[in-house]
Amino acid sequence: MTQENNKSKDYAKYFDFSTAKVIKQEEGKTTYRINGREISINSAPNHTEEKRRGKEDIQVHYDAGIPDELKEIGKDKHYIIYTFGCQMNEHDTETMKGMLEEMGYQSTEDRKLADIILLNTCAIRENAEDKVFGELGHLKHLKTEKPGLILGVCGCMSQEESVVHRIMAKHGFVDMIFGTHNIHRLPYLIQDALFSKEMVVEVWSKEGDIIENLPKKREGMRAWVNIMYGCDKFCTYCIVPFTRGKERSRRPEDVIAEVRDLARQGFKEITLLGQNVNAYGKDFTDIEYTFAHLMDDMHKIDIPRVRFMTSHPRDFDDQLIDVLAKRGNLVEHIHLPVQSGSTQMLKIMSRKYTREQYLELVRKIKKVIPDVVLTTDIIVGFPGETDEQFEDTLSLVKEVGYDSAYTFIYSPRVGTPAASMEDNVPMDVKKERLQRLNDSIKQSSRQIHDNMVGQVVEVLVEGESKNNANMLSGRTRTNKLIHFEGSKDLIETFVHVKVTDSFTWFMKGELVTEQVPM
Ligand code: SAH
Ligand code: SF4
Ligand code: F3S
Repeated sequence: MTQENNKSKDYAKYFDFSTAKVIKQEEGKTTYRINGREISINSAPNHTEEKRRGKEDIQVHYDAGIPDELKEIGKDKHYIIYTFGCQMNEHDTETMKGMLEEMGYQSTEDRKLADIILLNTCAIRENAEDKVFGELGHLKHLKTEKPGLILGVCGCMSQEESVVHRIMAKHGFVDMIFGTHNIHRLPYLIQDALFSKEMVVEVWSKEGDIIENLPKKREGMRAWVNIMYGCDKFCTYCIVPFTRGKERSRRPEDVIAEVRDLARQGFKEITLLGQNVNAYGKDFTDIEYTFAHLMDDMHKIDIPRVRFMTSHPRDFDDQLIDVLAKRGNLVEHIHLPVQSGSTQMLKIMSRKYTREQYLELVRKIKKVIPDVVLTTDIIVGFPGETDEQFEDTLSLVKEVGYDSAYTFIYSPRVGTPAASMEDNVPMDVKKERLQRLNDSIKQSSRQIHDNMVGQVVEVLVEGESKNNANMLSGRTRTNKLIHFEGSKDLIETFVHVKVTDSFTWFMKGELVTEQVPM
């Protein structure tokens, strides 16, 4: 569904710390003058450190919060957060909104009104980074007009050395850079930025702790719930293990308490979040408790729909399949990124499964959940990918019959092993492969939707349809978008809809019954 236009761009180091002028040195921070801007570095990103996976225990902190003296700092002030990237970032934004609001800040959509603007960034592909640098260009003008505005860059790009160096050297109007492990430090960083007038840089490269009890500003009736953080898989193309730290699971009692609370608040759907949710619990040393156990516990909670993102084929065990087969609130949709249909490519990508193992897993899942909806992620044009290997991806896509897929042209990421592999696939070939792949997925999605005409599906009504205010839109259990006519009173309830028309990425239908008791 997505397209990439990427060229390999290695941001050279923009300056050398050893030659930058040190103007102050205090315990825990050094202040430099770079291009006339004072930059106070509490800690800078470090690629070598981010690669480390030590044996230290993960610390769970229950005492993070907003200190009383900072609860008034945002009184009569406004904030905006622009979020790029995945659900993990969306959810981090909810946490930052929660913290800002506890500090007295109010949300706004008007840039001119904002006193603080944060860019929560994504580093997964080059075009994600280009968007952020583009946005920074626009914000520079705003900052010139309103010097008191605090501009912050956070998220995955902040964990990259080359990005932080580039911002320090070329975008001196930025006030704060903080990393994915430093989100809970936001109140203190704002205080520093406000009172010191220096650019504040705080990016920990630690493997990561778990911070509980931070406030969260959730909207709507669907909620994200982190169950684990980080990634230890180190697929050769991927930056995430460097930006998010080591795989670490939240304690089951904390996850369960949060979901119970969301159920009490009336949320209709939760999505359990992690880079590899099915690696959940592997880091526990004191208890035997896996993702299958967690899903079984979710099954007992009175919340109508439970989803999860993302599962890794390698850790998808039989126990989990058996639990998912219980259905109830566990919906029959699995996002199962395959990346490639060629065993050889999978090996070079370091995915740690073969084409056959993936297909066998799909067979097992379909045997127990025959109406399961499978979606996936695929990369084309990985270094060295031959026509034949690409054909293997096409044939796998046909064999599995995905309902939809996120497809990407490979984008080299500085510091990952694949970035130094020889890439002999020309860009026009990559683009053509992406096109053929997308055509094939479109066909399969349309076919599946055609076959659904006449079926009655359970729909959680989200709101008015975006393109037609007379229609309502909602999602099926399998996360398919469906539009139908109905009263606005049905918004945020469950209804039954009969599918009447099919399209490539959505369906239309007619309301069958009024409210379904859930
Ligand atoms: N943890 C998830 C994926 C997170 S990233 C998993 O392992 O499935 C989301 C998707 O971005 C990946 O599945 C992959 O298809 C794509 N991706 C990651 N790095 C990429 C890169 N360097 N170039 C192109 N696509 C990439
Ligand atoms: Fe990246 Fe692989 Fe980890 Fe997914 S499993 S986040 S693709 S390294
Ligand atoms: Fe992007 Fe970071 Fe998510 S790199 S995809 S925001 S984990």
